[in-house]
Amino acid sequence: MSVIAIIGAQWGDEGKGKIVDLLAEQADMVVRFSGGDNAGHTVVNQLGEFKLHLIPSGIFSTKATSVIGNGVVVNPRGLLDELDALKQRGVDTSRLFISDRAHLVMPYHILLDGLEEEARGGKAIGTTRKGIGPAFADKVARLGIRTSDLLDREIFRERLHTVLAHKNTILTKVFNADPLSEEEVYSEYCRYGEILAPHICDTTALLEKALSDGKQIMLEGAQGTLLDPDFGTYPYATSSSPLAGGGCLGAGLGPTKIDQVLGIFKAYCTRVGGGPMPTELEDEIGASIRECGHEYGTTTGRPRRCGWFDAVASRFSTRVNGYTQAIITRLDVLDTQPALKICTGYEVDGKKIDSFPASAATLEKCRPVYEELPGWQTPISDIRDFTRLPLQARQYLSRLEELIACPIGVISVGMRREQTIFKRPVW
Ligand code: IMP
Repeated sequence: MSVIAIIGAQWGDEGKGKIVDLLAEQADMVVRFSGGDNAGHTVVNQLGEFKLHLIPSGIFSTKATSVIGNGVVVNPRGLLDELDALKQRGVDTSRLFISDRAHLVMPYHILLDGLEEEARGGKAIGTTRKGIGPAFADKVARLGIRTSDLLDREIFRERLHTVLAHKNTILTKVFNADPLSEEEVYSEYCRYGEILAPHICDTTALLEKALSDGKQIMLEGAQGTLLDPDFGTYPYATSSSPLAGGGCLGAGLGPTKIDQVLGIFKAYCTRVGGGPMPTELEDEIGASIRECGHEYGTTTGRPRRCGWFDAVASRFSTRVNGYTQAIITRLDVLDTQPALKICTGYEVDGKKIDSFPASAATLEKCRPVYEELPGWQTPISDIRDFTRLPLQARQYLSRLEELIACPIGVISVGMRREQTIFKRPVW
């Protein structure tokens, strides 16, 4: 038996989709545990290229059970679109299960996400406008509606009636927007409930059984540690925990059950949306990384902000997740760079610091202190053996390993599954 958690170690988009897809070949169960359809995982496999938002990347495995855990907020319309697209391309979706405790993204969440962003003006978070923040806010405010509510029309009607009255007051009185029709939302969501009912169950029971049968379970993270509402660049953060600790809560298993926590780091940094990013490069190097790495959002298509590897933020990420191994992705994107910089500290108000500040305002003022290493300037995507990587690439990796305080187990050198170098086994 083995349980591994795959965690985004930076600001999301670290290439978790490829790693999960690759490791899912040996998994018996893959569980998404946080976020919602704000996530976007691009998976390239023998069936082609897929963009997943809610469905675990393990869906392509011929044996794995895929689970959307209680920690995920589910937009049923988006989920059904994703299911249809997969079915049309011959993917078997019958082994997908959705927690009966997962909260639903409702139409008012999406409206409010947009209206709240508009109201923030220049201080907008740059959310994906998928209703994620408002859905998680309702979960803790005890105003949420869960997938299990869809299974009983009377319960759903009553719950919707109460909650929608409250939401319509906010829509009309605070934002001067039109109210939503209870009848329309009710019938739309009843339809979703009917279609999704065979997939909705107590997924903790599935996990318990898999654990007692000695199965291999993968907890699939979404977003990244630096977007965590506690440890990320608050308030420029998402609304559920992408951390390994969030994996226990959002899947429904205890911390003692997790054997390995894999931190997925890109060989450089990217970020989408607002908020501080000390190593951002607003020059031609940043643009060349963006073009080489096709750094555009999977969910929103927005160009990602690109910059050098931030070892201060990364070490903090190791601290709050307890990684047992690091996986470095997209090393090949740096192939053409003559020199590479790694941020090893920050300078703020004339002082040098080497810790990741709590305040986004302080981080905004931080100037990166860099160490420079030579680039390798040769293509590495066809290399499969660590010892065959150019010396400069090995030096770069070894410095990252030291700085993030965690051994590197796997290196990804391309989009395809086989473009991967294993230094040590994962399962
Ligand atoms: P939200 O999660 O849509 O509320 O957005 C909050 C912040 O998290 C914004 O800066 C988004 O750009 C960012 N974000 C949300 N999901 C992802 C993701 O999957 N990858 C990268 N950034 C994300």
